Amino acid sequence: MNKGSETTTVSTPPQSATTEKRNETSAQRLAAPRSRVISRLISVVSAVAELLGAGNRRGGLVILAVLACGAVLLPVFLLTVFISANGTSGSAVLGLMLGLIVDLLVVLLLLGVVTHKMTSRRLATLTRSLRDLGTRTSNLEMSLGEQSEQLERQAIAAAATRAAVGTAVTDVGNRLQATQNLFALVSPRGPVPQMVGYVAAPDVLLVLVQKFLSLRPSLAIECGSGTSTLFLALAAQQYGINCRLVSLEHDPAYAEATRALVADHGVSHLVDIRHAALTTTPLTDHSGPWYDPAAFQDLHNIGLAFVDGPPGDVGPQARYPMIPLLADRLGNPCAILLDDMTRADERVVAERWMTQLEGFSYRYLPLTRGAGIFTRGC
Ligand SMILES: C[S@@+](CC[C@H](N)C(=O)[O-])C[C@H]1O[C@@H](n2cnc3c(N)ncnc32)[C@H](O)[C@@H]1O
Repeated sequence: MNKGSETTTVSTPPQSATTEKRNETSAQRLAAPRSRVISRLISVVSAVAELLGAGNRRGGLVILAVLACGAVLLPVFLLTVFISANGTSGSAVLGLMLGLIVDLLVVLLLLGVVTHKMTSRRLATLTRSLRDLGTRTSNLEMSLGEQSEQLERQAIAAAATRAAVGTAVTDVGNRLQATQNLFALVSPRGPVPQMVGYVAAPDVLLVLVQKFLSLRPSLAIECGSGTSTLFLALAAQQYGINCRLVSLEHDPAYAEATRALVADHGVSHLVDIRHAALTTTPLTDHSGPWYDPAAFQDLHNIGLAFVDGPPGDVGPQARYPMIPLLADRLGNPCAILLDDMTRADERVVAERWMTQLEGFSYRYLPLTRGAGIFTRGC
């Protein structure tokens, strides 16, 4: 209970203080309009003084004082004039009234001019503020426009990045799955080179090995040696396919590297890696070089050909000569796998081959780098 009463005493202000506060507030409330009227009067007087003094308030105040004196003196003067002219009380009142009317008219005129001046000033200020607001709004509009354009550009870039990331993820997934499938078919006995860059991608190697296993050719050739050479040799070994494997390689260092690779995997005896320098051809519809004819002179009844060389930087349509030079060495059944069809050059090569290959049908394979397969009898 004690605690409660203590709280009440503390929270309630003393009666006298409250009354004082209330009185103060009402006094303030009463004083406010009065002070407003006074300050309004002062501002009108100072505006009139400024107007009369043409900007010089002190001079204006002097003129105002003179005018005020004039306003007082004018009715007195007219009163005196009218009395001395007629001498009647009626003319005295008339003189006084005339003086007061003139005073009133002057005051009204001054007030009108001052009000006009103040309104014009306010209008000018308002116009300036509106102009400022307009400028700020148009600046804001411009910056909003720029920001929205920037956002649009960022959205386009983000969409492109999303698409690129999506493609990259799909590509990695495809490579992973193709590698697993390839290794399920053929088991290398040690590490194999990374299947990126110049090396054939896992999905085209998988198609190559599958075609090799289904055709079981007696002669398989390839243009451009490397990891593909190893997988063909391993497939021949692991599936007991009695096939002559010939790999044409224009770069002696790369031929040596491929020989070392197949040796590492114990399949050197199953593949014939031939260094074949690139030389000019007798072809009239192609100007670039191809493998030295001495390297493919003895090849007949080709059952499978993997065309992955010469590399594109040798010249335009660098792989084209293969069909015009070896068409009469192709067997039946036969499959020709052309890699890197995502390149325009290889697509032109495929189109030209289609007009030259007899009895072959063609299919495009949407692999990592695109491939085209020409088949006859299989
Ligand atoms: C597309 S690569 C052949 C790849 C091969 N079929 C494979 O699966 O590894 C075509 C030719 O490019 C050349 N080559 C391979 N790797 C290279 C490299 N890192 N830099 C320059 N040329 C390379 C070789 O002469 C090869 O015959």
